[in-house]
Amino acid sequence: MSAGRPLIVGNWKMNGLGADVAEVRKIAAALRAEPSRAQAAICAPATLIERLARAVKGSDLIIGAEDVDPEAGGPFTGDVSAAMLADAGARMVIVGHSERRRGHGETNDLVARKALAAVRSGLQPIICVGETEAERSRGGALDVVCRQAAESTPAGLAGEAFSLAYEPAWAIGSDQIPEPDEIEEMHAALREVLVAKLGRPGGDVQILYGGSVAAANVGGIMNLRHVGGGLVGRASLKAMDFLAILRTIDRATTS
Ligand code: PGA
Repeated sequence: MSAGRPLIVGNWKMNGLGADVAEVRKIAAALRAEPSRAQAAICAPATLIERLARAVKGSDLIIGAEDVDPEAGGPFTGDVSAAMLADAGARMVIVGHSERRRGHGETNDLVARKALAAVRSGLQPIICVGETEAERSRGGALDVVCRQAAESTPAGLAGEAFSLAYEPAWAIGSDQIPEPDEIEEMHAALREVLVAKLGRPGGDVQILYGGSVAAANVGGIMNLRHVGGGLVGRASLKAMDFLAILRTIDRATTS
């Protein structure tokens, strides 16, 4: 595991209605009663952020968004700016998730602009990178992912200002995860990219792993070198599953 407090970020994707605020309320209550060694966050649809931010008051559970527009404001119908998300109570935002790169044609350049807009409004971006199954079977995963990371990270950022998440697209929603040595190799390569791009601060960036993370595998993943946390999809939707991940980390680090 990397030094420092692990960061475990839930990604609700296009899930969640008013009734689901109760799940976040339960997570916040559990963390108020018994804090976790991990810093926990839930990134949710923009429609829920204000309600979720209210629900977590007094706990250290962070609420974040799943995407942001790079522009500050103006004639961009349907888009949501970083300042709007911050105003609603978000402190974090996922950018460049593979579902947006694939489904909305997002390029590395756009992702870097989104990350920069987030930082300027005081939000911590989580910049996602990851190869497809086809790129992996061609043997090109390392090159693709390092290039995504280099081009999606804005120059000049401080190491604590953002996180990077390595999420192989084929591991998302599939219950398949890479071998431990594959995750370590990729995270070590990403660390080099960050240091080459940012200098010393690149050493401080938390690099998360994402793709089918659950309580059953998080202990092993968090023990890997250069892994500073996890990005969690399905297992973040229910308080019970998300808390099981946090408590697994707590048990692993106190024993
Ligand atoms: P998953 O999703 O945990 O359901 O595989 C992860 C993600 O897409 O961030």
